[in-house]
Amino acid sequence: MGLELTKEEKDMLEGEYGKATRKAMEIITTLGEIYGASRLIPVSSVQIAGVSYHNLGEAGLEYLAEMAEDGKTRVLTTLNPAGMDLEEWKKHGIDEEFARNQQRVVEAFAKMGVITTCTCTPYLIGNLPHFGEHIAWAESSAVCFANSVIGAMTNREGGPSALAAALTGRTAEYGMHLRENRVAQVGYEVQATLSSTDDFGLLGEVIGEKTGKKIPYITGIPKASTEELKSLCASIATYGGVALFHIEGITPNKTPKPEINEVITQEDLENARKTLDDETEEIDFISIGCPHASIKEIARVAELLRNKKVSESKTIWITTAKPTKDLAIKMGYYDVIESAGAFLVSDACCAVAPLKGKFKTLMTDSAKACFYARGKNKFKVKIRTIEECIREATS
Ligand code: F3S
Repeated sequence: MGLELTKEEKDMLEGEYGKATRKAMEIITTLGEIYGASRLIPVSSVQIAGVSYHNLGEAGLEYLAEMAEDGKTRVLTTLNPAGMDLEEWKKHGIDEEFARNQQRVVEAFAKMGVITTCTCTPYLIGNLPHFGEHIAWAESSAVCFANSVIGAMTNREGGPSALAAALTGRTAEYGMHLRENRVAQVGYEVQATLSSTDDFGLLGEVIGEKTGKKIPYITGIPKASTEELKSLCASIATYGGVALFHIEGITPNKTPKPEINEVITQEDLENARKTLDDETEEIDFISIGCPHASIKEIARVAELLRNKKVSESKTIWITTAKPTKDLAIKMGYYDVIESAGAFLVSDACCAVAPLKGKFKTLMTDSAKACFYARGKNKFKVKIRTIEECIREATS
């Protein structure tokens, strides 16, 4: 049948709306043809990934600069973390040249009308779609959160396809945009106790590795906080390819319940913990806020750091979105955290900042951060609760 376009979409493709929109429409229609879509659909929100200059490099920046010549966003669009705190980068040891290039990236996005708050939890700071809304998000943890916890509908976009959706306000209708593709495929019963963000991260690692891209239906979780769910989303999408899961009694999508194929035991979780617990005594970097910390997590960290001092041989980052950092400043949490010698870092995270070679071992409550610390930065890793991380930092 092929891909049918409206008059406006055809005009975009023919360059009536400028060069960048034409290029963007070429990307959207090519994806639509590859995946057998019959039409494009409007999206109301976009999240763009591939923002760190560390990952983009000069070639990526040139592409953005070209798109920014005449490209303008048509819908609410936010950005994933950059390689540094856009204001306080100097005190975190980021070098001037990197900072200059990172600013150029952010300026290119700003020129296109993108809201240049850099975070992987856009849903915590105002880019919050509702149930059933079609959106185009990149960033696997945010995609998983949007599809599973909110019930919005998005594929796992890449950097260029998300930008293309922002400039056209469209995406091709395939994959997660179709209800028939959102049905649970494998059943998992959790028989383990989950009591903190690191436990949920480990559960994501276990289920992610077992399920791959198949949509899981999870039972046996009586309750979960937003922070625990964002941790689960990050790791299940990292260790598997999951863009959507269902948790009985917690997530809002309706799906027929499949047979329970697998039971997840306490032992499974403990074994997963061992895989993220490298032999080393030398912990020099602690990071909390993967995905970016909520104001509730920051308040907790500030309480744990009150009247304490971070040991001189250790660096601790609590990473978050800029609006959340501003709130933390207003509430006095920033002062407590920074006067203890820890850093409340906005806009960036430990995986996309240029940290390779700067530290040896990362302690974190995030299973996803462990994955990237090992893979990209060649750090050793230790997964612990937030409380244990703070204890380690101040010991
Ligand atoms: Fe976010 Fe960075 Fe973790 S993008 S999910 S804080 S690796």
